[in-house]
Amino acid sequence: MRSTIMYGFSRLSEQEKRQFIARYSKDPELAERQLEEYLMRDDKERRHFLEFSENTISSFHTPYGLAPNLKVDGQVYHVPMATEESSVVAAASHSARFWAEHGGFRVTSRSTVKPGQVWFRWFGDPVYLLNRWPLLKLFLLERLRKITLNMVRRGGGVQSLELLSKGSIDPQLYQLELQVDTADSMGANFINTCLEDLAEGLVQFFALDSDPEGKNLQVVMAILSNYTPACTISVESSCRVEGLKPMADNLDPVLFAEKLELAFRIANSDVSRAVTHNKGIMNGVDAVLLATGNDHRAAEASAHAYASRDGHYRSLSWCKTEDGVFSLGLTLPLAVGTVGGITHLHPLARLSLEILGNPGAGELMGIVAATGLASNFSAVRSLVTTGIQQGHMRLHLSNLLNLYHATPRQREIATNYFRNKKVSYDAVKHFLHEQPC
Ligand code: MEV
Repeated sequence: MRSTIMYGFSRLSEQEKRQFIARYSKDPELAERQLEEYLMRDDKERRHFLEFSENTISSFHTPYGLAPNLKVDGQVYHVPMATEESSVVAAASHSARFWAEHGGFRVTSRSTVKPGQVWFRWFGDPVYLLNRWPLLKLFLLERLRKITLNMVRRGGGVQSLELLSKGSIDPQLYQLELQVDTADSMGANFINTCLEDLAEGLVQFFALDSDPEGKNLQVVMAILSNYTPACTISVESSCRVEGLKPMADNLDPVLFAEKLELAFRIANSDVSRAVTHNKGIMNGVDAVLLATGNDHRAAEASAHAYASRDGHYRSLSWCKTEDGVFSLGLTLPLAVGTVGGITHLHPLARLSLEILGNPGAGELMGIVAATGLASNFSAVRSLVTTGIQQGHMRLHLSNLLNLYHATPRQREIATNYFRNKKVSYDAVKHFLHEQPC
């Protein structure tokens, strides 16, 4: 059965698709029922929702929670987070409140320019190409003007267009690099439309100019770059070292600050630790991006490339103690939108933005980055004090009790029993086996 190729799946109706795939389950009837149960009830909403993607047969749910009291630039936000991972929301909330009580996070820099490239090969005289560039550039920018009119009205538009030789990859390879400000939209579609227009313009220019048969030019591809080092956000926060006491568990705050600094230095030098450290940042970042209908894959790809921009993968965040003041900060490349994409099509993404007070893209960047830094601080705080298992295990136990269908009575007894014991699949299973319902 597994070796049979299925042709025409996309042409099946939604229900036929469910019936077909349910046969791959041990209990097809149950599988079909489950797939249907997870669909939205309202017919219109459901169709609308399923049309975001292709071959859709159900909806995949992710817990949607809130990290209250994230203060950024003086404003308090209750931040929607979508994540399946235990402790992420609790960690962000804990740290958000702590920093809110110490003035909150400050955005220290923000830029929103995103790049995209048209890659092409030029088989003619390279000097000729360079000489024609000033005129070609005017021609291309004039074409773009029509497409970008609306974006300019919204405060964005083309920032620059450059011709670069990429001879180190291929002797005849060139790149048109476009930099655009996409205002409040993430802008992926907009940039790609601009780039495809540039590619068409290139062909048209040389067809009219000197190469009617198009022998000298080969367009390879036109695509935005998800690496956005000119679209970054920096956030910081600080407090007096003694102020760290409530977060220091039983440690002296000075020692706590020292351990934090060392942990951040380790993450800045050791790739193995840096990846995990940055994952702790992205726990918060991705959860807010998901909850607001933004592209977390783009943010992940860009963040990790940025973390290795000097040739060594490093921590994205930092901390230091100076003159008795502990500070921490984060700089992150981040392409987000508050209009366009699914931000206003997905009912919960729309609601998330409403809860956040309908921020513009720049403001949302600050909220996302501050949530990332809050998550990061919480994670490292746990690591240098109690260890992360303590917090994790409470939720892990709860998930396991759900998995094994524990009764309310068994839950209560198990919660007490495992307070000071190691939680594992086997231990919980064994414990429940011994406990009457
Ligand atoms: C777990 O999702 C994230 C942490 O591993 C991050 C870290 O180690 O800093 C706790």
